[in-house]
Amino acid sequence: TERTLSIIKPDATKRNLTGKINAKFEEAGLRIVAQKRIHLSKAQAGTFYAVHAERPFYDELCEFMASGPVVVQVLEGESAIAKNREVMGATNPADAAQGTVRAEFAESVGENSVHGSDAPETAAEEISYFFSGLELVG
Ligand code: GTP
Ligand code: MG
Repeated sequence: TERTLSIIKPDATKRNLTGKINAKFEEAGLRIVAQKRIHLSKAQAGTFYAVHAERPFYDELCEFMASGPVVVQVLEGESAIAKNREVMGATNPADAAQGTVRAEFAESVGENSVHGSDAPETAAEEISYFFSGLELVG
């Protein structure tokens, strides 16, 4: 089994969608082994998304991620990274497959409701950015 870092973004927490999104993860066979609601500062969002620092939307992205509470969580399961990205759908909701979180809930390419790690190395880094080992309960 594998673990991945998931974030339910401010556009989704604002609309009270945490439960509906978690239901999709659980229905796909992913287990929520850690979860907390936090409000990132813009600087913390910037550190988390540092790989995107050169992208034109970086400032907007950091502003958005600090605009309200997020739910950070660790999802565990068989091929959890790929499975989570499947449940999330494409970055742009206009391209997201029917039934995915982004197709159903995302408001735009920026305010797209969820984040998911994209590889084992980034998953490990992102999990340790938010959680200590003691907080992961499989
Ligand atoms: P994450 O799981 O959040 O990393 O999404 P992703 O892997 O599907 O997309 P990517 O890593 O390429 O981009 C990271 C995040 O930046 C996206 O989820 C969006 O929130 C935001 N983003 C990407 N492209 C754009 C864009 O063109 N405009 C804006 N405003 N935000 C964007
Ligand atoms: Mg990404």
